[in-house]
Amino acid sequence: MAEKNLAGGFMEENPAFRAVAANIAPDRETGIGAWSDAEIARAIREGIRRDGRVMGPPMPCELYRKLSDADTAAIIAYLRTIPPQD
Ligand code: HEM
Repeated sequence: MAEKNLAGGFMEENPAFRAVAANIAPDRETGIGAWSDAEIARAIREGIRRDGRVMGPPMPCELYRKLSDADTAAIIAYLRTIPPQD
């Protein structure tokens, strides 16, 4: 749904866990609009949320850990261009 681009929602349910993707559009209340670049980079590469809690699967942080600073900055710059979604 284009109007809900990157707003998150139900993803996957199996016996081990139920995954709900986060809203990573830049809404300041429900998304990551109020996060700093460093906070977003830490979430992508280290799997740690703004509040310090560890993120669960299936976000593949093991792969994203290897992202360069330049590539991470490019992803963050892109995320900030998306219309906010609540
Ligand atoms: C470059 C691609 C991606 C970026 C930039 C990204 C970014 C983020 C960010 C910033 C969060 C934290 C949001 C918050 O806590 O409010 C998050 C959480 C999450 N992401 Fe990703 N993500 C990406 C790819 C993926 C993929 C490929 C998956 C799964 C197939 C995924 C699944 C999830 C899930 C389930 C959460 C919530 C984790 C939790 O709350 O425990 N993400 N993502």
